[in-house]
Amino acid sequence: MTMRKIFIDETKFSTEKGPWFGELPAPRGDDYDFAFISDRTGGAVYGMFEKGLEAARKLNPDFVISIGDLVEGYWTDEAEAHEEWDRIDPMLAGLGVPVFQTVGNHDYGTETMIRVWQERKGVDYYAFRYGRTLFLVANTETLPLPLPEAALALIQQANRELIRRPQELYTDILRKLADNASTAVFEMTEDNLIHPHLSGEQIDFFERVLADNTDVDWTFVCLHQPAWKKPDPIFERLEGLLADRPYTVVSGHVHYLEVTGKRGRRYIQMGKTGGLHCFDGNGDIHHILSVKMRGGVPQFEVILLEGEGGMDTLDPYTKKTDEIR
Ligand SMILES: [Fe+2]
Repeated sequence: MTMRKIFIDETKFSTEKGPWFGELPAPRGDDYDFAFISDRTGGAVYGMFEKGLEAARKLNPDFVISIGDLVEGYWTDEAEAHEEWDRIDPMLAGLGVPVFQTVGNHDYGTETMIRVWQERKGVDYYAFRYGRTLFLVANTETLPLPLPEAALALIQQANRELIRRPQELYTDILRKLADNASTAVFEMTEDNLIHPHLSGEQIDFFERVLADNTDVDWTFVCLHQPAWKKPDPIFERLEGLLADRPYTVVSGHVHYLEVTGKRGRRYIQMGKTGGLHCFDGNGDIHHILSVKMRGGVPQFEVILLEGEGGMDTLDPYTKKTDEIR
C-alpha cells in the first residue's frame, strides 16, 4: 500500500515536466480522500473557482484532479496564453495539496495553446497510481475543432474584456461583441458542444499501464469531454480494456452534472466550478466532487458552492440507464 507512481508514455515523451503541481504524499493507508474540480471557462463567475479551490482544500484531500478548461484560452498569441496560465497556475500550485490537470478544449484549442501547454506542462496524457487506485488521465482534445478566424477574434476580444472587468458576466460581454460584429452566437446544444477525440497512441499507452497494474482495487478514467456521448471507436477500445475491472469515468466540459450508468459503471459528467451557465436543470450547479476511497471502493459527495453550500449525493443527478455496481 505504499505505491505512488506517475506513468509517462516514454515512447513519445522525453520530458521531466508534467501537468501537475506538488508531490503525492505517502499513502496513509488503504482509505484516503481526493477531489475533482471542474470547468471554470466560458467566463468564470467571479470568485466561484476560488471558492471551489477553498472547498477542496477544506476537505483535506491527498490530492485534487482538475478535469480541464481552467483558462479561457483559444489564444493565437503565445504571450497572452502564457499570461493567462501565469494567473491560474499559482492558484493550483498554492493549494497546498498536489493538483493533477487534464487537458480541456480551452487549454488546447489552437496550435498556440498546444505549444504553450507542451512548453509549460510537457505531456498531455499520463497515468498515476496511488496505493491501490489507478488513474488514467486522457486527452480528448487531440483533434481540436478549427474555429473560424472571426470566432477566434471574438473569443479573444471577450477574454481581454473579462481580464479588465472580471466581475462582469462573460455572456453579456460576448453577446455585445457578437451583436457589434453581427456574428451568429453559438447554439448551445449537447450535440454542438461535444466533439471528443482521443488518439490511438494514448490507448496503446493506457493498455500497457493497465497490464502493469492488474492488482488495483479501482481505476478512474479522467476525460475532459464525455467521450461516451458520441460514437468513438478509440474510446470504446479503452472501455474494452477496462471491462474486467471496477472503474469510474469522470468528465466535465458540458457544465451540467449528470451521471450515466453504463456497463454497470458510473460515468460522471461534472457541473461547473465557476464556468458558464449552459443548460437549465438540476445539474446546472457549481460544485466540486469529493471522493472517499473506503475499502478500495469510492464514495462520492457533491460539494455545493452556491448559496449556503452543503453536500449532496450523486443520486438526484443519475440517469438509471443501467444498473451501477
Ligand atoms: Fe470544455
